[in-house]
Amino acid sequence: MKQRILFVCLGNICRSPAAEAVMQQLIDRRGVGDRVAVDSAGTYGGHAGDRADSRMRRAASARGIEITHRSRQVREEDFERFDIIVAMDDNNYESLFRLAPHRDAQMKIFRFREFLTNHPDWSYIPDPYYEGHEGFELVLDLVEDGCQTMLDKILRGEKFE
Ligand code: 4NP
Repeated sequence: MKQRILFVCLGNICRSPAAEAVMQQLIDRRGVGDRVAVDSAGTYGGHAGDRADSRMRRAASARGIEITHRSRQVREEDFERFDIIVAMDDNNYESLFRLAPHRDAQMKIFRFREFLTNHPDWSYIPDPYYEGHEGFELVLDLVEDGCQTMLDKILRGEKFE
């Protein structure tokens, strides 16, 4: 069965589109597009239709990762379309939990921090919107770490719970 992942942050212009692009690149490199699909969305719809923040795109591009996503707000049907819904921070988690239409939908929501392997000091992915360049680099470091761990887990056939 194909596993469909949705990354969710606040604006869907920094953290979650970066996670989507990093995961898509891993999927492409490993040739597992038939087993895993990825998308991203935001709990806030104010940037809907926008490309990712140019600072995020520039930082990703310097690592060979192209972010092409257009922002969209998360919606109730996402809980049907996706198997694993990953919140970048606790606020995103709580917003998703409130939006989830039923208990089974709530069970699909995870925190990105659960997948961090090499960054024990981070319990969430910090919002880089009001930060300098280092904030965007940090997001990419964290997202690269967690996406590797998550994809390995999916490809091993492990359950998310
Ligand atoms: P993101 O960053 O949640 O990582 O996309 C933000 C982008 C925009 C805003 C907040 C966070 N905003 O308030 O407009």
